[in-house]
Amino acid sequence: MENFFYNIPTKVSFGKGAIDDLSGYISEYGDSVLLVYGGGSIKRTGLYDRIIKLLDCSHISHIELSGVEPNPRLTTVKKGVQMCLEHDVKVILPVGGGSTIDCSKAIAAGACYDGDPWDLVGHPEKIENAMPIIAVATMAATGSEMDPFAVITNEETKQKKDIASDLLYPAYAILDPEYTFSVPVYQTAAGVADIMNHIFEVYFADNGDTYMQDRMMEALLKTLIKYGPVAVSEPDNYDARANILWASEWAINGFIACGKDGPWPAHSIEHQLSAYYDITHGHGLAIITPVLMDYILNEKSLPVLVNYGVNVWDIEKTKAPYDIAREAISKTQKLYEDMGLTSDLGELGVPYEKDFDEMAEKAAAEGLEHCRVPLTKEDVVEIYRRCFK
Ligand code: NZQ
Ligand code: ZN
Repeated sequence: MENFFYNIPTKVSFGKGAIDDLSGYISEYGDSVLLVYGGGSIKRTGLYDRIIKLLDCSHISHIELSGVEPNPRLTTVKKGVQMCLEHDVKVILPVGGGSTIDCSKAIAAGACYDGDPWDLVGHPEKIENAMPIIAVATMAATGSEMDPFAVITNEETKQKKDIASDLLYPAYAILDPEYTFSVPVYQTAAGVADIMNHIFEVYFADNGDTYMQDRMMEALLKTLIKYGPVAVSEPDNYDARANILWASEWAINGFIACGKDGPWPAHSIEHQLSAYYDITHGHGLAIITPVLMDYILNEKSLPVLVNYGVNVWDIEKTKAPYDIAREAISKTQKLYEDMGLTSDLGELGVPYEKDFDEMAEKAAAEGLEHCRVPLTKEDVVEIYRRCFK
């Protein structure tokens, strides 16, 4: 187990009506907010009106940055930074999914940095300060509302990269599972695949004996396998939405990664796809993950895949280890397909071979030689190929 420093500073308000205390949280930091949201789902669900009423009642002024794209763009971040500086904003209030919250985090860091926010990618030491963020999550997927990462796309250079700093943990996360009832079936399934993948990335890291963390991860995976299909078929099922939402936070808030460290290969491979072709992040992962698991299946990965098969999927441990591993991989793929996701990258409009070389080079450069089963650029090209049916 690696050394670690444990600090998860985000305060969480979870459950029905959690939004009611919003003004009190904002008032700890000031009386003017930048309200950030996406393409309008919060207006359709009535959450926008509720928030505006709460702000008005507490005399908190606000300006709005709307239209944050899924796979948020650097240009939108720069627009938000400008608004914060011009209007003396004290708090950033993202209301939405991971894209809206990530964009807000990059704004929070960018507004306190004298230069282009893209300079902050890969340079946490340049983030010396950040504006406070109070995040209202409306979908369960990235866990951005309780983690220190912001993933931003630079549309000019076709790069999708993380800005990361402990200063980017939101001060508060407001999590009401009822806000996630309206998430479309497709985004619900993609979200579940994303959450599971955040766990897999850590589960497969090779850091010696991490027995406790591994068993916690298996419990989280079982939760997602149980409730993912329920949320897809019964969108208003509170228990399913609540369990998935809470699992999404623990998948990425740093807890399971205590003592475990390593590259995130599926994410490195997927981020190129969403940078080049603007595909849905979780769907890309749903396609890549079973292919990647199968590609790395060898003596080094076998014990992890056997644990996954036996402890998560309840496959009989008397079976031959490679059979257990293969069965676990095919059950994973079937779960995603049963929730309505395709296993074929071609169906998402990704052209075969065209950019594989360039994308694989960018993915491999993210340290994939340090994976439990090391991956080269050539391996990544082959993984892209196997994602086509
Ligand atoms: O934009 P609106 O109108 O709000 O609609 C969104 C969007 O179209 C919709 N949606 C969200 N909540 C809804 C809803 N529709 C109806 N009802 C609701 N309650 O869902 C669509 C997708 O939203 P988005 O925010 O893009 O999804 P997600 O949360 O999956 O975020 C994806 C982004 O996060 C990055 C991904 O790469 C991608 O850019 N990631 C961020 C991470 C992090 N910060 O730690 C880690 C992840 O691995 C990931 O890379
Ligand atoms: Zn992810």
